[in-house]
Formats: sequence, structure tokens, C-alpha cells
Amino acid sequence: MAYQAMHGYISAITAFVLIGFTQLVLSNSFAPDYVKKHAPIIWLHSEDSLMPSDILGHVSHTTPYDGFKPVRDSPAMDLDNLSSLNRLSKDTFLTAIENVTSMPDWLLGETPDAKGALHNSTACAVVLVEKDSSVTDAFYFYFYSFDEGADITQVVPPLNKILPDAKPGDHFGNHVGDWEHNMIRFKDGVPYGMWFSQHGFGEVCLWEDEACLSMQSDRPVVYSARGSHANYPSAGSHVHDSALIDVADKGRIWDPVSPAWFYSYDPTTDLFVALEPESAPTDWLYFNGGWGDKQYPDDDPRQSTVPYFGLKKYNSGPTGPKFKHLARKGIEPDQKPKGSLLKSAVEFYMSMYGCCLRGINPWVVVISLVLILALVIGLLVFTVKRLIPVVKRRLVNQRAEKDSEGLFSRLKDWISRKKRQPKDQSEFSLRLLDPERPDDEV
Ligand SMILES: *[C@@H]1O[C@H](CO)[C@@H](O)[C@H](O)[C@H]1NC(C)=O
Ligand SMILES: *[C@@H]1O[C@H](CO)[C@@H](O)[C@H](O)[C@H]1NC(C)=O
Ligand SMILES: *[C@@H]1O[C@H](CO)[C@@H](O)[C@H](O)[C@H]1NC(C)=O
Repeated sequence: MAYQAMHGYISAITAFVLIGFTQLVLSNSFAPDYVKKHAPIIWLHSEDSLMPSDILGHVSHTTPYDGFKPVRDSPAMDLDNLSSLNRLSKDTFLTAIENVTSMPDWLLGETPDAKGALHNSTACAVVLVEKDSSVTDAFYFYFYSFDEGADITQVVPPLNKILPDAKPGDHFGNHVGDWEHNMIRFKDGVPYGMWFSQHGFGEVCLWEDEACLSMQSDRPVVYSARGSHANYPSAGSHVHDSALIDVADKGRIWDPVSPAWFYSYDPTTDLFVALEPESAPTDWLYFNGGWGDKQYPDDDPRQSTVPYFGLKKYNSGPTGPKFKHLARKGIEPDQKPKGSLLKSAVEFYMSMYGCCLRGINPWVVVISLVLILALVIGLLVFTVKRLIPVVKRRLVNQRAEKDSEGLFSRLKDWISRKKRQPKDQSEFSLRLLDPERPDDEV
């Protein structure tokens, strides 16, 4: 009897463990179908020469730098040991071995075939973040070895007139390594909304919003801007950062998931698990450093600065997928990037331009604004200077009054106490001295 019960018990446990194990294996080794069925389809710009790039190939053409210094005796890195660099320095940048200014071939990536597939590169990583039992965020990360920033033809008028020396082809904001992404939020496997990364931030489209999102057989269409690879839901010109223009068109198709690596990520444990193929490398996802050269210093012959605006020809390479706000509440990242004074000024200028400043030379506007500001500050300083002695005098008077009041009342107290004390004592002593005086009021 006891043996049979025991046996049944063990079988039940075995079955339970087996089912659990099977579920674990299943859920750990496949990306859900909906993640592929609704994966974005990308249109690269017709004139973009900077194509999606093999993630491993990129690493093999770089060597780790601690800031601007090569890490000494560094062995070749690959995607299974990249994160070992985290121990060495907090300022690690995968720096191009060859001279970047001569645009070596590997920076150009691989051109997709007519169907949009790559044959010799993996340039996409899909990272799934399960929010709860019904909501899953699927991040589609796209990798390009080079990002070419805007040139003067991509500056909104009339600000382009401020830079008389700039020529078409002088791009600024370039960098080695370029991580872009879309994120689709699924509720019970049904797409709900989508995020498009664009420079410092991006934009959201809800799935049902046909004015925002267009579809190509169940897949949302994404336009990758020429050079910058910022992602837009529509073709055409798009103004970003108030004054710069991205251009996008239906140039060449890229299907980012052929091929792609699929992972799951758990923000609470900070663990990436390869889902498909199970052999996909995971170590590189933990790398904390930059995926391209650190922004060259101003005295580096490769570097130059846009006058007045301070934009650099070369910026630093970006950090990887882990740093793109994988744990977010909404479809957009929880925090917007910080603005700057210059950015706000440009924003203000451009918002006034349409209504009131059109036709006025921007320099006239800038100089007038500076003059007005100087006048306002001058007036403020003048007023404050005049006011300070008055306020000071008043404060001093008030304090003196308060102090004398305090002294006076303390003096009064003291006097009245003194007055009372001898009187009481004298009465008491008088009584003692006067035994005839009757004990009254008893
Ligand atoms: C395929 O990629 C590797 C690594 O990026 C490169 O060395 C090789 O030349 C490429 N082959 C072809 C046919 O493009
Ligand atoms: C990384 O792996 C590559 C090849 O798999 C190896 O050559 C290299 O020495 C490794 N680097 C480190 C730092 O372990
Ligand atoms: C890099 O290449 C550019 C153009 O090809 C050249 O002008 C420059 O001197 C080179 N710089 C270095 C450090 O080799």
C-alpha cells in the first residue's frame, strides 16, 4: 500500500517536473510567431550608402580604447567576450582600427538583396521584455556601422544662412556605430502601439492609427532616414532638433528579421537569454561601452566644429541595446532627454519665424535679441543696485527696533521683579517682627 502510494506520488512529481521542464524549454527556445509576423519592414533611402552592418564584423574592425588610448595588449574581441571589457575601464570605446575619414568598406555594411535579406551579416537583434502575463514589448534593434549626420542642405532656412562656409557634403554629427530601434507593444499577441527611435528621442504610433502607421501585409512600414538612420513612419522630409532635416524615401527594402537574433530580457535580473537561435551570442549585450570611436578632441585634425552652434563633425559612438530603456512604462521611454539653452533658443526662434520673423536676416534677429537681453539685464542690475541700500537701511532699522524693544521689556521685567521682591520680604519680616499682628484670613 505504502509503496504504491509512494510510487504514485513520485510519478505525479515526475510528470509535473516534466511538464514544467517542457514548458520552460518551449518558452525559452522560440520567439513567439507574432513577433515575426508583425516585425517592421524598413525602407532605406535611395541615396544612402551606409547599409545595415554585421554586428560581429563591426567588432572585428575595432579595438578597445580607454578614452583616447588603446587598451594595451588587448586580444581580439568577439561577441562572446565583449563584456569582459567592462572590468577594464568605465570609458571604453570600440575604436576603428583603420582611418575612419577614408571610409573603409566595412563601414558601408551589406546591401540587402531584392527581397530585403542579408546573406553575410546579422544586423538585427530582437529583444523581448515581458511586462506581465499579457503584455510583451518587442524591441527590434538595427545596427549600422556608420551614422552620417546632416550637412548644410539639411539645415532649415533661414538658419542655413548663418553658416556661410558650410558646403553640401560637410556632414556634422557623424559617428562610428549606430544603434537604432523600433519597439512594438503586444497585448495578448496583438500589436497595440509602436515606438520609432529618432536621434535623442522619437515618436509613437498606435497600431490602429492609419494616419500614423502604414502596413505592408501585417507588417508596419518604417522609413530609415538617409545617413542618420532615424526611423520614421512616413517618407519625405522630417525636421528634428528644431532646425535639422532628415530625408526618407522608399529606396531599398530591408527585412530586418532575415536574419535576426531573438532574445528575452528580464529587467529584474538583468539577464538576456538567447531564444532563437539558441546559439546566438549573448555576452555582447552586457557590454557597457561605446560602439564606435570616442568624440575626437578639438585639436584632432579629423574634428571640426560648426561655428555658433557648437555641433561637432564627429560625435562618440553610442551604447548598445541594453541602454535604450528596455524597462519602460509607456511605449516611449520614461524620461525625455535634457534640453539645452541653445536648443530652446533655436526652438523659440523657429516657432517665431513662421509668423513674425520671416524675411528678417537671422543675424538681425540674433543681434536685436542680444541687445534687448543686455538692456533688460542692465535695467535689472541698475534697479537692484538702487534698491539694495534702501532695503539694507530698512532692515537695520527694523533690527535695531526689535533689539531695543527686547532690551526694554527685559529691563521692565527685571525692575518689576526687583520691586516686588523687597516688598514681599519686608512684609514677611514685618510680620515676624510684629507678633501682635493677628493671623487673619484663616
Ligand atoms: C562576410 O563577412 C565577413 C565578416 O564581416 C567578411 O570578412 C567577408 O568578406 C564577407 N564575405 C562576403 C562574401 O561579403
Ligand atoms: C575573445 O574570443 C576570441 C575568439 O573567440 C579570442 O581570440 C580572444 O582572445 C577573446 N578575448 C578575450 C579578452 O577573452
Ligand atoms: C585619414 O584619412 C584622411 C583622408 O583619407 C587623411 O586626410 C588623414 O590624414 C588620415 N589621418 C590619419 C591619422 O591617418
